[in-house]
Amino acid sequence: MSAIATAAALSLPISLSCASKFSNKRCVRGGFGVFAVLGEEGGLVERKNTWTIFNVEDPRSKVPQYKNKFLDANQALEVARYDLQYCDWKARQDVLTIMHLHEKVVEVLNPLAREFKSIDTLRKELAELQEELSLAHNQVHISEARVSTALDKLAYMETLINEKIVQERNTTDAELSLATPSTSTESLETVKNRQPKRNLNVSGPVKPYDAGLKNFWYPVAFSADLKNDTMIPLDCFEKPWVIFRGKDGKPGCVRNTCAHRACPLDLGTVNEGRIQCPYHGWEYSTDGKCEKMPSTKFVNVKIKALPCFEQEGMIWIWPGDDPPTANIPSLLPPSGFQIHAEIVMELPVEHGLLLDNLLDLAHAPFTHTSTFAKGWSVPSLVKFLTPQSGLEGYWDPYPIDMEFKPPCIVLSTIGISKPGKLEGQSTKECTTHLHQLHVCLPSSRQKTRLLYRMSLDFAPILKHVPFMEYLWRHFAEKVLNEDLRLVLGQQQRMIDGENVWNWPVSYDKLGVRYRQWRDSVDRGSKRLPFTKSP
Ligand code: FES
Ligand SMILES: [Fe+2]
Repeated sequence: MSAIATAAALSLPISLSCASKFSNKRCVRGGFGVFAVLGEEGGLVERKNTWTIFNVEDPRSKVPQYKNKFLDANQALEVARYDLQYCDWKARQDVLTIMHLHEKVVEVLNPLAREFKSIDTLRKELAELQEELSLAHNQVHISEARVSTALDKLAYMETLINEKIVQERNTTDAELSLATPSTSTESLETVKNRQPKRNLNVSGPVKPYDAGLKNFWYPVAFSADLKNDTMIPLDCFEKPWVIFRGKDGKPGCVRNTCAHRACPLDLGTVNEGRIQCPYHGWEYSTDGKCEKMPSTKFVNVKIKALPCFEQEGMIWIWPGDDPPTANIPSLLPPSGFQIHAEIVMELPVEHGLLLDNLLDLAHAPFTHTSTFAKGWSVPSLVKFLTPQSGLEGYWDPYPIDMEFKPPCIVLSTIGISKPGKLEGQSTKECTTHLHQLHVCLPSSRQKTRLLYRMSLDFAPILKHVPFMEYLWRHFAEKVLNEDLRLVLGQQQRMIDGENVWNWPVSYDKLGVRYRQWRDSVDRGSKRLPFTKSP
């Protein structure tokens, strides 16, 4: 990656010459610039101090010298790092100044000293000190603002770099498409149109689902909820389906509409592996074939059935028209965890909005004030870091790992060794963990079937506590309701034309990537961003 930077000289703090954080303008070739001028002259008067926190070296002499050079991304980040070091050093110096001034005030007010000074002299000295203190306090405020600006710039640079990575991946995608011109009817214009949108626009009524989004395996139910003689009705991509077990115990998924006169089949019963319509008793097997047609001459009739499999305690369907892929992903928690709750909820929101919400942790201290985030402080900066691949990573400063698993799954592991005090730790530092699985099945354009599974790597006894599952459900619903009222409000505004991704910031990284992934699916891209295979 090459980022073009104009480095006139080094500035502390650095200034992005390309744009402020509120602008989306780009430099030449989509790079970003670092503009720098010489640091502040002079400095604070040397003072003796015995406090180790003030024994921090002035970083200005070690600032990397990039004057009149093009900086790549790493160099630009190095400059930003020095900028923060300088802010840190300066803030310490400011505090030291205030401490010295306080010492002087104490000296002036010393009752022993007062004997030798007139009241007027005392007044004068105190007034001077007050003035100095006021200036020092102002200096602290300036330092605070400087730190905040430096952090904002760092976050902005991170966003630019991430966008650049996505842009490069998509350029490769476009180049691959252009590599076969003799067979491709796509014009350059079409390829250009397939570039990711720089600004996300998710507004207006949800568009009809693209066929590409259906060509995935979708978990639709927990195995434990499907007994031999029961059935589970569900909507998927605006079509009604019903799952039940055949004679061999294997699950099947058929259209929940009788071929005779469109009666919902789930109002009937399951007998010997066949679902019976409650209206005139037609019976269907798990492959959709009508096998019984009482009181009339039998004719061959079939209702639509979807590929359906059971794996690791979940039932999966393939709603797309393409042939299903061979592998169904594993959603089990890591070894050492035990499943404590499996909950299903039908929610009146579009599944993308729910995913946006689940992929965002920065909202917790504002939204979940009655549940898990009660008493959380608001960190000065929340970040999502993605060290492994584009759709998984961890939250800083929270000990929470998170992954978006296409097409609609969120996995998260939360370190909870210190309940209520989550900041400043990583999941590895915590001794106990909670693992969560959220599946957001697109039932319709305003409805989601949510599958939630919670596992713990401690307190296995809880599994045997009577009525514990009701308690887990109560807690899960309480947390979800805190989100739901907000997401419902967003949905209404989105339908009315507002963009729910109007102004993404650094902690929105995972949500933005989900939207970029989904945009690519909707555009029919062969290579999807952030994934190794389509
Ligand atoms: S509508 Fe189902 S059997 Fe008549
Ligand atoms: Fe939430």
